[in-house]
Amino acid sequence: MRIRVSGQALGSYRGPLLAAGLFEGQKLEESPLNELDLASGGWLKRLLAAGDFRGKKDEVLVQRTMGALPFHRLMLVGLGKREKFKVDTWRGALSTVARRCREMRLEEFAVAMNFPEEKGMERETMAWASAEGILLGLYRFKGFKSKEEEELRDPAEAVLLFRGRASGKLEKAVREAQIVCEAVSWVRDLVAMPSNKLTPQILADEALRMCRAKGLRCRVLDEREMKALGMGALLGVASGSKEPPRLIVVEHGKPSRLTPTIALVGKGITFDSGGISLKPAEKMDQMKDDMAGGAAVLGTLRAASELGLPLHLVGVVPATENLPSGSAYKPGDVLTTMSGQTIEVSNTDAEGRLILADAIAFALRYKPKVLIDVATLTGACIVALGDSIAGIMGNDPRLLEKLREAGEKTGEEVWPLPLKEEYEELIKSEVADVKNAGGREAGAIQGGLFLKRFVGDTPWVHLDIAGPVWTEKERPYRPKGPTGFGVRLLVEFLRNYG
Ligand code: BES
Ligand code: MN
Ligand code: ZN
Repeated sequence: MRIRVSGQALGSYRGPLLAAGLFEGQKLEESPLNELDLASGGWLKRLLAAGDFRGKKDEVLVQRTMGALPFHRLMLVGLGKREKFKVDTWRGALSTVARRCREMRLEEFAVAMNFPEEKGMERETMAWASAEGILLGLYRFKGFKSKEEEELRDPAEAVLLFRGRASGKLEKAVREAQIVCEAVSWVRDLVAMPSNKLTPQILADEALRMCRAKGLRCRVLDEREMKALGMGALLGVASGSKEPPRLIVVEHGKPSRLTPTIALVGKGITFDSGGISLKPAEKMDQMKDDMAGGAAVLGTLRAASELGLPLHLVGVVPATENLPSGSAYKPGDVLTTMSGQTIEVSNTDAEGRLILADAIAFALRYKPKVLIDVATLTGACIVALGDSIAGIMGNDPRLLEKLREAGEKTGEEVWPLPLKEEYEELIKSEVADVKNAGGREAGAIQGGLFLKRFVGDTPWVHLDIAGPVWTEKERPYRPKGPTGFGVRLLVEFLRNYG
């Protein structure tokens, strides 16, 4: 879909539909839409006086203009209370607009870019957010139905009307947002893919293909190479499955004084049954999304390459299934990791931290200035923060703050959990350096404390994204299903790095 920026006046737009946002109780005279009212000879004022539209959040009213204005329909979309308005409200509103236009089978629509111009809501930001709302809101997963269902076509074009104030800067913002949203949609597709259609090998093939298309370097390590590196934890988790594990390594840029190295490590469990410590059947099917962290890392590199970010990025994605079988690793087993540390497996369902331990050790060979891991690590994090906020932990307060800011800006929110040293007791082992699970209390923090042992003194952040990678509810610009969480957050962090 094409998104265009235009400086055309609202009253001279000719097309099937113009969408405009209004706050609850906003007077027309105090709104930039007043010019439309004047152009229509008071038609808009009479329409609002009729009382069918109150500006409640996500309320929509579509009216035929019947010649009162040069475009055919006016769509009013409610922005809710003025004092509660955020950039994220705008993303949601634009997603609503785009989806309604698709339902109406429109080829094209325009949007009046009127919003309060205050700090954090600069025009570039709002242009960017508009593209996000439209593109992410229209996302659908294709699925595997054998009979084509009649699918509505997406509108081909959206025009953002900035009224005499269009500029190259705004166009650039839209273009860059488009790059990021395409990466998000690609990640959503990967996350939605069932495990028989997305094995570790297929994930690696997808990564290779993407890297070829986007100018990234990609290397895929097989079991033999993992053995040579001493990746006993990753191989341990993989041992229950017939599908061989893969370690996907993607690189953008070159290390230099001006382009610092940042390592991104993402959990790539293509299916998590829990292994011998088998999960209950209910909702086990959802565990096809346990590679969402890995996918977010790949998507971030994809966007970073297309945006030409001045950084050296290394993405590392350990990919495997976690299944029970005669060859599976078992509770009580002791695994030796690439770092040399030994791990007692108290629960084979705490497999994410095991594969991450080896992937982190591998990433550290690049001597990164910063290491960020992204993982659907614990159910406990969902209990703590629900399904729209990620848990964030780490050893560097400045870095944590930077990610919090990126979260606020993108609407991909993160919330800190404390890595309390006292809780290290919970994962102490009698027979090995550490155990992988220590009971139910502070479950998400245990995951963080475990990973901390493997990063040494590299500045590090751990994102537990178990909650927000999938939504069971329709949400503004996050249709039911995979959300692609992490890509926009990380890209925003990387854009501001330095
Ligand atoms: N992939 C799961 C985490 C998860 C659970 C994500 C539910 C989304 C929904 C992870 O591998 C896991 O099983 N974690 C265990 C850890 C426990 C055994 C210490 C968990 O959260 O129960
Ligand atoms: Mn698990
Ligand atoms: Zn898992």
